[in-house]
Amino acid sequence: MDQNLSRIVAQDKNFLNIINGRRVAALSQETITVLCPSDGLPFATIPAGTAEDVDSAVRAARDAFEHGPWSRMPAFERGRLLTRLGQLVEEHGDELAALESRDTGKPVRQGKADVVATARYYEFYGGAADKIHGDTIPFLDGFTALTLREPHGVVAGIIPWNYPMQIMARVVGAALAMGNTLVIKPAEDASLSAIRIGELAIEAGFPDGVLNVITGYGREAGAALSSHPGINYVTFTGSPVTGTAIQQAAATNNRGVTMELGGKSPQIVFADADVEKALPVLVNAIIQNGGQTCSAGSRILIERPIYNDVAAALGERFSKLIAAPHDMDLDLGPMVNPAQKRKVENFITSAAESGIEVVARGSIHVDAPVDGYYVAPVLFGAVDPASVLAQEEVFGPVLSLFAFDDEADAIKLANGTEYGLVAGIWTRDGARQHRVAKKVRAGQVFVNAYGAGGGVELPFGGFKKSGHGREKGFEALFDMSATKTVVFRHD
Ligand code: NAI
Ligand code: MG
Repeated sequence: MDQNLSRIVAQDKNFLNIINGRRVAALSQETITVLCPSDGLPFATIPAGTAEDVDSAVRAARDAFEHGPWSRMPAFERGRLLTRLGQLVEEHGDELAALESRDTGKPVRQGKADVVATARYYEFYGGAADKIHGDTIPFLDGFTALTLREPHGVVAGIIPWNYPMQIMARVVGAALAMGNTLVIKPAEDASLSAIRIGELAIEAGFPDGVLNVITGYGREAGAALSSHPGINYVTFTGSPVTGTAIQQAAATNNRGVTMELGGKSPQIVFADADVEKALPVLVNAIIQNGGQTCSAGSRILIERPIYNDVAAALGERFSKLIAAPHDMDLDLGPMVNPAQKRKVENFITSAAESGIEVVARGSIHVDAPVDGYYVAPVLFGAVDPASVLAQEEVFGPVLSLFAFDDEADAIKLANGTEYGLVAGIWTRDGARQHRVAKKVRAGQVFVNAYGAGGGVELPFGGFKKSGHGREKGFEALFDMSATKTVVFRHD
């Protein structure tokens, strides 16, 4: 793994944008230095793209959509190219996992899991490309009515830094399966895998201009892309504040959007639950990727009779958690950047100062470089549901426990934030499983399980502030296309 990485970094310290099938620097020649979150040291550069680079990528994507071979390619051939890209992701799996881990600080095994999911997205959408079709509709005598599912045109995908390779794959897979062309803007903190996937797409044989990758700061490249009149649809995963800015920018051209904006996802543990089975899942749901996960299970609601026992068992597990450099592959890595570390630490400090009980704290490995962005995990107990900690997305290794009295109380607490992305329900009572699953406002609900990451075939998205539109599975193909109704008169 490390050998692979040193080869890539030695050969290609300066990553380039992908526009119209070519690797190009920013027109300004400016770059952004890439730092490894594990030690804070620079190891690569990416282009600091601006509006002029975005414009040339959008033109390339437009040209490919309207005039290139892509515009005439049958769906099954688009699918074959996606399948080929998935195979190339697998073949370069070690390299991609190492790159993703070093760029984001995530433990190497998480990088590997991300590669597996990424390859699955391309495989899934490769197979789905020729299986989405329209309807024929019974209409008036003398008429035949049918629907066609058509691509939007040029789609902009603005990608966050937490699972860059996976999130790019769900966007690219669905958008290209439906025949759109794409401009991807990865996050300035995690662009390397996006560039490598863009290069692999060239190798897979995608026509020039179908998949363009532009790196740069959100306020420059991202803002220019979301407001560009040549874009037909925008899909975004990230913070609600940036989501609002992107929707406003897209609205200047009245373009459609898909928004996945994070969560404050609850797991409800009833007194009859199989607690032993639940415990490792409850911990993993907040520790995976250092808690920097949109679907993180950041609130545990526990039925009062078992509250103390579950809190103690979680506390025991939390006190053993260790944050360490990505290549030590322990429980969690560092936060992605210094701002994220400060943000998470501020949540922890203000919660502790406001008197919220600290049940347990994990630690930072003694060998972790002092310039890395580490945060020790914290478990808070008996959290006030109205507190900032209970209401806001921390996006770090911070878990809050709440006690509830009955099913109605649990549902009220579960739905008691502005978010609605994922929920977990732990109970052996079958009728209750169904009742609660229906009453919880969340885009995905897991019963006696939790975890959205790997499920490429499972539709995913938010209610309320968590966003709108659906990604993953077949549903994403509907978001990535529009219905055209054609009516024939033949009387
Ligand atoms: P962000 O939402 O600002 O960044 C995500 C992407 O949006 C990046 O590619 C960025 O370059 C781009 N972007 C930023 N400003 C933009 C603009 N005005 N127009 C167009 N694109 C723009 O997230 P940020 O600042 O990196 O992290 C802040 C917080 O957001 C985190 O602490 C976390 O709470 C949340 N977040 C949630 C994610 C999720 O998966 N739900 C992912 C990343 C962050
Ligand atoms: Mg990085």
